[in-house]
Amino acid sequence: MLRLFRRFLRSPLHPPPQRGPRPIRRWQAFLLISLFLLVLPPAGVSRAASDGNREAEIALGHLIAMKGNGFAGSTACAECHRINGGGMPSVGIPRIAGQTATYIYREIRGVQKGTRFSPFMSRVVRNFSKSDIRAVALYYSTVRTPKLHDPSEFDPSLQPLGRRIARRGLWDRNIPACILCHGEDGRGIPPNFPYIAGQSKTYLMQQIKSFAVVDRKDDPEGLMRGIASKLKNREIKAVAQYFASLTPPDYGKIPEKNSPKRLRLIPENLNGKEVNHP
Ligand code: HEC
Ligand code: HEC
Repeated sequence: MLRLFRRFLRSPLHPPPQRGPRPIRRWQAFLLISLFLLVLPPAGVSRAASDGNREAEIALGHLIAMKGNGFAGSTACAECHRINGGGMPSVGIPRIAGQTATYIYREIRGVQKGTRFSPFMSRVVRNFSKSDIRAVALYYSTVRTPKLHDPSEFDPSLQPLGRRIARRGLWDRNIPACILCHGEDGRGIPPNFPYIAGQSKTYLMQQIKSFAVVDRKDDPEGLMRGIASKLKNREIKAVAQYFASLTPPDYGKIPEKNSPKRLRLIPENLNGKEVNHP
């Protein structure tokens, strides 16, 4: 901001300041003050994050996740993505715990800019400042949570096809193996390639289709759009099911029962719902 302002002062309309002190004109002071007011964060909490203090940023992110950012219409992320960021597999709300802050930030910006079509999310994040987004992205990148039970239909006959697409691709149709970019067993390659292992089948299918019909169009270089548009319905189903059947990366051990950490991260009544945890 300051750099822009300096460049503005140096532009041909405004010749470079002469040596020696030069009184600030009244309009310049006015401009400076309005610029300053413009960049002031709207709420006290946002200011805590702007000092670059990681802990303060995570705390702000936690607050936003649990309560929203205080603007009308902003809903707590936890209402949909649940407190532990595990999502709701039954309705295709994705797990976001442990995705990288870079990826989460980019997706939310995409929703704001409209390059990622998301009627649910857009209302929620419409009024988010960049520091709000950074904070909540950082927060969820630090949350670890076990995989939740995915109630969608599991068709064993699709599993070999899904596995083949995931691991080897369909080279006769120029479809590369998903793990080339999504990492070994779909566990992601930080910071830009999201993990897709252990994400719900409903969500995965929906997103692949969303790339194919270009509702989601800010994937770098159109990498995913190109691939998704070549997949047939049965293949989408198979590969989504395959990745949904795997374990998400680095989801951590479940903390001791009743420990504050467990209460914070998995307050949900997981009652036997989680699978594959150590
Ligand atoms: C009203 C429900 C709802 C709320 C509240 C909500 N989300 Fe979402 N979110 C969704 C749905 C549904 C999707 C996936 C489908 C889509 O893109 O529309 C999603 C997708 C996402 C994604 C993309 C995940 C991925 O793997 O690409 C991120 C990141 C995300 N939400 C973060 C947040 C954050 C952070 C908040 C709180 C500030 C939040 N969401 C609040 C419903 C919600
Ligand atoms: C050339 C690299 C590349 C390959 C190969 C690739 N992807 Fe992706 N994929 C990406 C990138 C990059 C993103 C993130 C896009 C974004 O930021 O919106 C992504 C995102 C996704 C998402 C959305 C994840 C989420 O959390 O919302 C799904 C689902 C997905 N890919 C499935 C697949 C499947 C299935 C295959 C194999 C058929 C595959 N990808 C192959 C690069 C790739």
